[in-house]
Amino acid sequence: MHLLAFNGSPRLRGNTWTLLNQLKRGAEEAGATTEEVILNKQHIKPCQACESCKKTLVCRIKDDMAPLYGSILSADMIVIGTPVYFWSMSAQMKAFVDRWYALDLDPIRPRLAGKRFGLVVCYADSATETASGVVYAFKSAAAYFDMRFYEPLLVTAGDRNDAAGNPQALQAAFALGQEIAKP
Ligand SMILES: Cc1cc2nc3c(=O)[nH]c(=O)nc-3n(C[C@H](O)[C@H](O)[C@H](O)COP(=O)(O)O)c2cc1C
Repeated sequence: MHLLAFNGSPRLRGNTWTLLNQLKRGAEEAGATTEEVILNKQHIKPCQACESCKKTLVCRIKDDMAPLYGSILSADMIVIGTPVYFWSMSAQMKAFVDRWYALDLDPIRPRLAGKRFGLVVCYADSATETASGVVYAFKSAAAYFDMRFYEPLLVTAGDRNDAAGNPQALQAAFALGQEIAKP
């Protein structure tokens, strides 16, 4: 079982990174192999809505997203980690997710069905509603692709070290990793 995590934060060793790290440790303890892709280090152009993938079944944009399609399709678990930026996801994450358009094609879409889908969101606000747009987007996408959506981990963390200093959040991230990777 392989868990593939996508980190949408530009902060190295920030809150999203810390929580995903814990989640990966939990998944590894449950027997999974894990991998994290830092989207900020990838060159991923926004979808151009050219619709050419509809004809060719491949995205026409040749950038760092190209190899990630195969990685997504071969992973058993997909985990998304993003900070809230203006009540939404980060721009890095949005560009990445929009490129899933090229996975929403008849022969390909069914290959996503049944994969496990985890979500980690952090934000400065103390109200969890701040993350509701992000949760709605990914819960809807997971349902659309017939993926198994796990209860998201929502963490208040404004400064970059807040999550690292929050034992409850670290434990919850570890537990989510264990849960998602449960054989
Ligand atoms: C451009 C930008 C927009 C943000 N917008 C929000 C917001 O709408 N609501 C919120 O609670 N926090 C907001 N934040 C705070 C981040 O979500 C918060 O600091 C988060 O912990 C960052 O995660 P990271 O350390 O993984 O990058 C924003 C931060 C930035 C840089």
